[in-house]
Amino acid sequence: MKKKIPSLLFALIWGVSLPVFSQLPVYLDDTKPVEERIDDALSQMTLEEKIAMCHAQSKFSTPGCPRLGIPEIWMSDGPHGVRMEFVWDDWRHAHWTNDSCTAYPALTCLAATFNPELAYRYGKALGEEARYRGKDIILGPGVNIYRTPLSGRNFEYMGEDPYLSSIMVVPYIQGVQENGVAACVKHFVLNNQEKYRNAINVEVSDRALNEIYLPAFRAAVERAGVWAVMGSYNKYKGSYCSHNDTLINKILKGDWKFDGVMLTDWGSAHDTDEAARNGLDLEMGTWTNGLTWGLSSTYDQYYLARPFLEKIKRGELSETLLDEKIRRILRLCFRTNMNRQRPYGRKLTEEHTAIARKVAEEGIVLLKNEKEFFPIAPGRYKKIAVIGENAVKKLTEGGGSSELKARREISPLQGLIEKYGEENIVYSMGYASGAPDYSRELPSGFDADSLVRCAVEVAKNADVVLFFGGLNKNFRQDCEGDDRESMDLPYGQNELLDKILQVNSNVGVVLISGNAVSMPWLKAVKGLMQSWYLGSEAGVATARVISGEVSPSGKLPFSIPCKLEDNSAHYFGLESYPGDGENVYYHDDILVGYRWHDTRHIDPLFPFGYGLSYTRFEYGDTRTDKVAYDICDTVRVEVEIANVGRMDGAETVQVYVSQKNPSLPRPVKELKGFRKFFLRKGEKKWVTLEVPVQDFAFYDDRQSRWVVEPDSYQLQIATSSRDIKQAVEVRVNP
Ligand code: GLC
Repeated sequence: MKKKIPSLLFALIWGVSLPVFSQLPVYLDDTKPVEERIDDALSQMTLEEKIAMCHAQSKFSTPGCPRLGIPEIWMSDGPHGVRMEFVWDDWRHAHWTNDSCTAYPALTCLAATFNPELAYRYGKALGEEARYRGKDIILGPGVNIYRTPLSGRNFEYMGEDPYLSSIMVVPYIQGVQENGVAACVKHFVLNNQEKYRNAINVEVSDRALNEIYLPAFRAAVERAGVWAVMGSYNKYKGSYCSHNDTLINKILKGDWKFDGVMLTDWGSAHDTDEAARNGLDLEMGTWTNGLTWGLSSTYDQYYLARPFLEKIKRGELSETLLDEKIRRILRLCFRTNMNRQRPYGRKLTEEHTAIARKVAEEGIVLLKNEKEFFPIAPGRYKKIAVIGENAVKKLTEGGGSSELKARREISPLQGLIEKYGEENIVYSMGYASGAPDYSRELPSGFDADSLVRCAVEVAKNADVVLFFGGLNKNFRQDCEGDDRESMDLPYGQNELLDKILQVNSNVGVVLISGNAVSMPWLKAVKGLMQSWYLGSEAGVATARVISGEVSPSGKLPFSIPCKLEDNSAHYFGLESYPGDGENVYYHDDILVGYRWHDTRHIDPLFPFGYGLSYTRFEYGDTRTDKVAYDICDTVRVEVEIANVGRMDGAETVQVYVSQKNPSLPRPVKELKGFRKFFLRKGEKKWVTLEVPVQDFAFYDDRQSRWVVEPDSYQLQIATSSRDIKQAVEVRVNP
């Protein structure tokens, strides 16, 4: 009979031998510090393996290191949902059958909720879907500032105010990255127009750069710990942003201590030496023949591919530059696809649908409500005319890289039929656009005159008209790659509305867009909502708000000017927007959006931060915890607010700060705090907001640093940038 080895002796042998035989290399060992793992992996990689890792191998992936078992990195757009799959090496969809997604509302809608908790839940849900789809980087959020109402990509961003964008971007990124997926904040920086985007050089003051255009990126890095940043196409002070020494080496990686990966936009790299020296870590989407469209599968021609390798071999560029890039890429791997602890993700769940709907209904902004036109309770009218192509058009398609293959997209018409019953709804398209296209407006195939005639007939015979208009994701609308050519509604909508109003005065308008539009019919309509690209749950959310199931609580994340020339970017002529194709000068400087309107006393049609409710809020006393503060203090503001209306509802209290005697010109007010809260009808409560005195600072370009000056400051408690309810004065001590 075999002699049994005493169990203690067996355990001893096993225990001792285990580490010897199954010694994991350090870089694969999760128990080791990440920096040790990086050193270990780097020390084992050849020059060619390192070169391969810092540029694309396909449209949306980069190679890992097969020999060492370091995985490839897979990425996908975009900010509002996980985009469909593409063929390996060009812009054709792969037409897989497992790549549909939940389409979340556009980020302008998320910003309009003024609800950071929703931003976290949004990011968490998006990151879950990205993880499930095997993506290590989701190419979003976009936080470029809304400077002109014409920019084709404003719908992807979070509005005109740097503070609002900074507060909303942080929880979004944290939510995404909890899934072990890197968020990639974009487009760093000054991508505030699509016209001439590939090479326009932006000339902007240091103050405007720091006070308006950088804050949201800085918050993403310093407060959210974002793992990736995407460079923009344009130039800053003559150098491409994607390999710009000042922006990347000095500000992003120096001042802000960004430890993640700096990657290009697709095709935004233009030079090997600059890319190598100026902090670019990962090159994607380069037009490999350097002239027009990319030759297929010529990734070796990328700037950070063979040209980089040869310059290192010739001693013209140091291998240390390459090692620093690989360190960052490896760190991203250890945070994502080499992190064994990360969850597995989920997609298309009921929770995902619920958050898409919640953001949509909290983002809709009620702008006008004469004689309680809204809400329209079911049964109030027998015949509701729904008119306009935007009541039915699929708006998750088109628009550029944020396009989605939504598993479902409930249109406003579907939502209204569901809510009111088919027998009470009559629809007419009224106007029509072509299918989305990125280089031209395709014909719609409809006869415009007959669409108008039908719509007017339907309106004439209805009790009430709901007009669904606005923009869409077509060329030179809300679409990447170019800008709109005016603020006017397209496709003859203004004329159509005039004809409808001649036969029925009981009209409400729902605008769906990512930008401000002109509204010549505003006085004539009874109700107006600013809605957004709401994604999968568009119709459900729209119907819940219109019917009064939910009281609207959205606030405008951008100003709506009376006319284009009232906007800061358009006030200074073509040089200020869109520039001459070479340069654009931001003459509006630090006065963007309400900062412009309020400092220059130019009344907007609707102000930043504005939004009505079905109920009414009354502001009572306001108090602060002290009168005089030191720079390291935080001002604690308490505001008494009552819901005196007939419905439950949510309000967003805003705090604007105004310095009394600044040593440099400042806007008359700057948003430095907001808080959204829910109040039942009849409920009253004290709402507390905290504003760090550090946030009173401005960027002093004489000293190249932020300063808070001892002075008096007025804190304006407001329900919009123009509607100040209370004001309190505080002092900052020397
Ligand atoms: C596009 C966009 C960018 C997107 C990338 C990949 O040009 O500018 O936002 O993430 O290419 O599609």
